[in-house]
Amino acid sequence: MAKLRHSRLQAKKLSTVTLVLSMLFMLTVVLLMLLGLGIFSLPINGDDSPPNDLTSYRRMASERGKGLGKRGEQWTEVLSWEPRAFLYHNFLSREECEYLINLAKPYMKKSTVVDSKTGQSKDSRVRTSSGMFLRRGQDKIIMDIEKRIADYTFIPVENGEGLQVLHYEVEQKYDAHFDYFLDEINTKNGGQRMATVLMYLSDVEEGGETIFPAAKGNVSAVPWWNELSECGKKGLAVKPKMGDALLFWSMRPDATLDSSSLHGGCPVISGNKWSSTKWLHVEEYKL
Ligand SMILES: *[C@@H]1O[C@H](CO)[C@@H](O)[C@H](O)[C@H]1NC(C)=O
Repeated sequence: MAKLRHSRLQAKKLSTVTLVLSMLFMLTVVLLMLLGLGIFSLPINGDDSPPNDLTSYRRMASERGKGLGKRGEQWTEVLSWEPRAFLYHNFLSREECEYLINLAKPYMKKSTVVDSKTGQSKDSRVRTSSGMFLRRGQDKIIMDIEKRIADYTFIPVENGEGLQVLHYEVEQKYDAHFDYFLDEINTKNGGQRMATVLMYLSDVEEGGETIFPAAKGNVSAVPWWNELSECGKKGLAVKPKMGDALLFWSMRPDATLDSSSLHGGCPVISGNKWSSTKWLHVEEYKL
């Protein structure tokens, strides 16, 4: 009798265990169904890492270097594929533009051009602006701008020449030219110039556009066509706007020289034009 009672107790215990187990199983099934339907999701990692798209790249890039002053909304505009030219709006803040101008002002000298035969600098009627070079990594603010250029172009800071600051007064201009070299001397350091980032440090009331006279496509389709000077209408034109940066490539993706990168600075008609140029080489440019 006692034995029977014992086994009955055991059977009861067993059925309780079975019940608990089956309930756990049911719960698992329900949970799996909810997960499968996407109604419920498991937290995979705590930090909310940014989604893997270009907006997050841009956010990361702009958050890395805070820079001087506050920049307006930034966006890029494809201007042309022949030449490959892009306009980055509000690349620099007003404070950064003013900082560069004030840093350069005491050292401005009449600009020269490179003689393609000798590789030497020479005076020229082709280029009537004045300018000076800043040192690469000269100070914190310049390092910050140079890092931003590297992030934007995907070309390392080491491949860049020091920033050149340029000033054009009324009637001053730079006739159409290429940024790449056709001589051996100028490509010794860093190899060929691959790309140029031209930053506008001031607005220009009238004239002073950057033009690409050999650009393919309908150059009169730009929204600012009616605001262009006569010179600006002779090609694909970019109107200087303080803080904007124009990126264009002197080389095609297959590393051949792109003759459609021919460009010039239109004469300033009224106002003053300040700009800063960063030339980027295919290899490290030794200082
Ligand atoms: C170029 O673009 C302008 C403005 O959109 C248009 O009026 C003109 O017809 C275009 N020209 C050609 C040749 O497509």
